[in-house]
Amino acid sequence: MIDLTGKTAIVTGGASGIGRATATLLAELGAGVVIADLNPDLGEEAAKEIGAAFVRCDVSQAADCDAVVAAAVERHGGVDVLFNNAGIIRRSTVLDIAEDDWDLVMAVNVKSILLMSRRVVPLMAAAGGGSIVNTGSGWGIKGGASAISYCASKGAVVNMTRAMAIDHGPANIRVNCVCPGDTATGMLADEARQLGESVDAFYADAADRPLGRIGQPRDIAQTVAFLASDAAAFVSGAVIAVDGAGTA
Ligand code: NAI
Repeated sequence: MIDLTGKTAIVTGGASGIGRATATLLAELGAGVVIADLNPDLGEEAAKEIGAAFVRCDVSQAADCDAVVAAAVERHGGVDVLFNNAGIIRRSTVLDIAEDDWDLVMAVNVKSILLMSRRVVPLMAAAGGGSIVNTGSGWGIKGGASAISYCASKGAVVNMTRAMAIDHGPANIRVNCVCPGDTATGMLADEARQLGESVDAFYADAADRPLGRIGQPRDIAQTVAFLASDAAAFVSGAVIAVDGAGTA
């Protein structure tokens, strides 16, 4: 059902985790993929494995985002799909978060969507349309403990998605948000480290969850591929949980 042949996709944070799984799947489905990531070693490795291009990029920096879009245009002639996936988490409350950490989380998780989208939207509009998928979180809807900047940022992503879908729908640009639940990636390990726990202890309850497990990156990638494709031609402004009915 899903065929992305002839489409070009940018995947931010595509060097690992959910981004890497999605870059892999989009390429399998026929898309030309450009991975944009802060980590050059993993980024180059992923690009080689997938047959994608890699551009080293800090998504919180405008010049870096401009360079990613320019590279996609140079290589593929345009951009049909933008997966705004790069994100970070800092585990703290309003009582103990450093202002620098707040600013960093908001810049990487939220401002990046502005920086990437403002370059991609005009290209999509000129080409007759496109699909943007932003990455929220269950915690962007329900909130969660000890991650105040992360919850704020993901809440912003959810509502930014709805606003972008309204603004750019007339140009046939669909904008949707995927909200993963707990998913087995480096971010989980990072969270456990920040809380001084082992990953195993952190998610010891996985078997008790409704589907008996936490998510795998490919679970999220499947939904992104659908949203990227023409099969989702009338899906826009949607906020889709991919969390196995989990509570996180
Ligand atoms: P991950 O840590 O495995 O991968 C994140 C990737 O983003 C890494 O390759 C990293 O190098 C890159 N990155 C980080 N900062 C960057 C920057 N400033 N510029 C460019 N690239 C940067 O994390 P994961 O789990 O794959 O997360 C992907 C998205 O999914 C994030 O937005 C995250 O908030 C969201 N998410 C993840 C959940 C989980 O349980 N893993 C749950 C809910 C949402």
